[in-house]
Amino acid sequence: MARTGFVAGNWKMNTNKQGAVALAKAVAQGAPAGVQVGVAVPFVYLDAVGQALAGSSVMLGAQDACWLPNGACTGEISIEMLKDVGAKFVLTGHSERRHIFGDGPEFVAKKAHAVYSSGLTLIHCVGETLEQRDANQTLAVVQKQLEELQPASIADPDRLVIAYEPVWAIGTGRNATNEQAQEVHAYIRQALGKLWNQNFASQVRIQYGGSMKPDNAAGLLAQPDVDGGLIGGAALKAESFLAIVNAAK
Ligand code: PGA
Repeated sequence: MARTGFVAGNWKMNTNKQGAVALAKAVAQGAPAGVQVGVAVPFVYLDAVGQALAGSSVMLGAQDACWLPNGACTGEISIEMLKDVGAKFVLTGHSERRHIFGDGPEFVAKKAHAVYSSGLTLIHCVGETLEQRDANQTLAVVQKQLEELQPASIADPDRLVIAYEPVWAIGTGRNATNEQAQEVHAYIRQALGKLWNQNFASQVRIQYGGSMKPDNAAGLLAQPDVDGGLIGGAALKAESFLAIVNAAK
């Protein structure tokens, strides 16, 4: 089953308005055909970046969302608000949400359900800490995080993307080896096959994230179950981001 590669930039809490627009324009200009490209930008720049991307194939995305539709949720952003400014995908369960800001599995599950149900594409992030890897808990941790998803209400494999991001590899310059990534990606596909079915699992894109850079992207992306990347640091420069995108063609 040939899956179209999907590389998404996660800008995290970086850029300013002018820099965000310039980066978006450069990405739109350089994005090749044959691979899906997205950028997950800070909430306050979604509107401006969406306008900068108009007419291009680059997908606009958000890094998080509230699961509730509206109302008394001080500081939160609803999925309808994200759609209103043109967002097409949303990340859920990023390790920084889980580990720095305390998003527990129940919150993450509600967010994932709400994003998919809204019609947007869901990039659901999973991954183990170094302690968990050292204690041989990687696959069990990833399994539990996959179970935050509700198979009964997710039917379109094109709108579900899993990002495997080992926490110890994020922003550290220490990426998973090709073999380490492939082992967990293959496990994820097998787990999706049990939660849904083999046919569904074979169509879901599984991105690798965690210090993916132009010089290690080709090796990671050559693994049979690595279908793209979720890129942090290297997504903040069009040149390095597009080099990774091109490696996923
Ligand atoms: P990194 O971040 O590429 O800077 O390691 C990846 C991510 O957190 O999505």
